[in-house]
Amino acid sequence: MTEIRQILVTNALPYANAALHLGHILEYTQTDVWVRFQRMCGHQCYYVSADDAHGTAIMLKADEKGISPEQHIADMRSIHEADFRDFHISVDNYHSTHSDENRELSELIYNRLVANEHIAKREITQAFDAEKQLFLADRYIKGTCPKCGAEDQYGDNCEACGATYSPTDLINPVSALSGTTPIEKKSDHYFFKLPEFTEFLKTWTRSGAVQDEVANKLGEWLETGLQEWDISRDAPYFGFEIPNAPGKYFYVWLDAPIGYMASFKNLCDKNNLDFDQYWAADSSTELYHFIGKDIVNFHALFWPAMLTSANFRTPTKVCVHGFVTVNGKKMSKSRGTFINARCYLDHLNPEYLRYYYASKLTASVEDIDLNLEDFTQKVNSDLVGKVVNIASRCAKFVTKGNDGVLSSTIENPVLWQQVSDAGKVIAEHYENREFSKAIREIMAQADAANEYIAAKEPWKLNKDETQQQKVQDICSLGINLFRLLLTYLKPVLPSVAEDAELFLNDTLSWSSIESPLINHKINNFKPLLQRVEKDQVNAMVEASKQDIAQVVTKPVEGPLKDQPLAEEISFDDFIKVDLRVARIVKAEAVEGADKLLALTLDIGGETRNVFSGIKGSYQPADLEGRLTIMVANLAPRKMRFGVSEGMVLAAADKKGIYLFSPDSGAQPGQRVT
Ligand code: 2FM
Ligand code: ZN
Repeated sequence: MTEIRQILVTNALPYANAALHLGHILEYTQTDVWVRFQRMCGHQCYYVSADDAHGTAIMLKADEKGISPEQHIADMRSIHEADFRDFHISVDNYHSTHSDENRELSELIYNRLVANEHIAKREITQAFDAEKQLFLADRYIKGTCPKCGAEDQYGDNCEACGATYSPTDLINPVSALSGTTPIEKKSDHYFFKLPEFTEFLKTWTRSGAVQDEVANKLGEWLETGLQEWDISRDAPYFGFEIPNAPGKYFYVWLDAPIGYMASFKNLCDKNNLDFDQYWAADSSTELYHFIGKDIVNFHALFWPAMLTSANFRTPTKVCVHGFVTVNGKKMSKSRGTFINARCYLDHLNPEYLRYYYASKLTASVEDIDLNLEDFTQKVNSDLVGKVVNIASRCAKFVTKGNDGVLSSTIENPVLWQQVSDAGKVIAEHYENREFSKAIREIMAQADAANEYIAAKEPWKLNKDETQQQKVQDICSLGINLFRLLLTYLKPVLPSVAEDAELFLNDTLSWSSIESPLINHKINNFKPLLQRVEKDQVNAMVEASKQDIAQVVTKPVEGPLKDQPLAEEISFDDFIKVDLRVARIVKAEAVEGADKLLALTLDIGGETRNVFSGIKGSYQPADLEGRLTIMVANLAPRKMRFGVSEGMVLAAADKKGIYLFSPDSGAQPGQRVT
């Protein structure tokens, strides 16, 4: 009997100011697969997350939308939660850093740091926007690059020549918020005395808590010398006010990781769990943080140092992954490869992506490339062609020939033993986050199972009356091998595994891989997974481009600056676009789609169904009966919810979406020229 481990797992908390994209989904998939694997092994594994709800960016975003920060973060939280749920992320609790638990824990930890004399206070000088009455972080200052002279560059680096500098080096610096020239202003700040933890961190980072490559990078920083960390921000700031420091707020990165504890505390209060058992300095439980390589300093320097000072336990492991590239390049809005989680879900099955990511993930910090052709090919050939195929080839013989009862013998014990034994090495790969190795091994076993069935040709034997038992024995082994493969894939494909459990009439668990199903009744087989169609992938890429055209907004500097004119076209090009007056006969929300409305349009005797991303700005009922303009000769586009037969015209900016209407008197079907 193996010992039951008690594990607490977290993800990086996404900022509550933007939609999730496929980069977030990589991390959450990695974590979720690991967590599901631990649970399948019988360990107690809690998995918590939250929205990271504080900071200037969130305050400004709420301002821009004309709503309170509280409302804004509540809206974002429900969008994030829906995205994670639909990607089958099995968090036990999803909370917010703007919560009572987080306020209490942040104050507690800060007070302990103060008591231990790990906090320093001193005056610093910063850029200040006198019109907005705000101190400006580097990214809110723009100006001319001191190196190459490119205009309109951010305060920390030049996108034109790649130079890095400080905002004071910029020529003609202006505030990106008001356009005024920043002034210099002094204020008191609070600092965490990180250098005092150098020796502790040298030991901790070499204790196996991070991958070797990460420890090496941290080693360089530790050798160069650590700086004190500025943990305060001046009002106005959306966050928690620092105890005994009116007008000073905790910097978002101070209370963000404490949000891990806060989410767990919230879970403990709901489920009567023992918070201290997991967080006390002498805890014997395990604590795993999964993060991206860009936030290592926060998790492997500041965080363990803060925890130690505040007399809490330190993480068992900080597991660091790389970034997602799409088709070998950084995700790009104009190429349509900056794909939002919801846009993916609108077009494709989440388990395809979970599988693809798992097939590429290793324990290293290397970037992961989502190559869309390879994605299509791999899902179709591995999952549909190899795994599901085994069950679909074998099930019908067992259902028809033996009333769905599997044979009492194992036709090829050596093969069964081989696939069953593979479970040990697959489990090790999952434990070590070497998912790509696990998948490779699972597929090698799927190949062996397929070769066996292909060699035995039960469909031929079935024609011979005297071979009926043989057919049953072969196909029963086929089903048993399928059961093992689905057990191994269950952490990656939870929903497919659930359907397979219904079919197999069995619960797939790591503890039962040694015993085959014998004389066991199975249920009728239903196809478990459809092939990925290239059209669906293309439609997603197109929709990602469209999302940008309609929804992306930047600080106001005039519409032409935000959305530069597209390439010039000829009159002949223009005339190809057939614009028609359309009456919106029906408008309905689309279940599972946050932005889409399904519109039924009358264009003069002909009806069109169009999906349009205007839900954020219109109530469906208000649209019914009104006239608009549509592109009537756009090629139909297959989306996850159906086919969209055209597009309605609308202007968009950060305040909303404005649907076009003709003057009164226009009739449905009239051409617009
Ligand atoms: O980089 C980010 O997206 C941060 N919001 C991650 C925070 S992780 C933790 F510290 F809360
Ligand atoms: Zn430059």
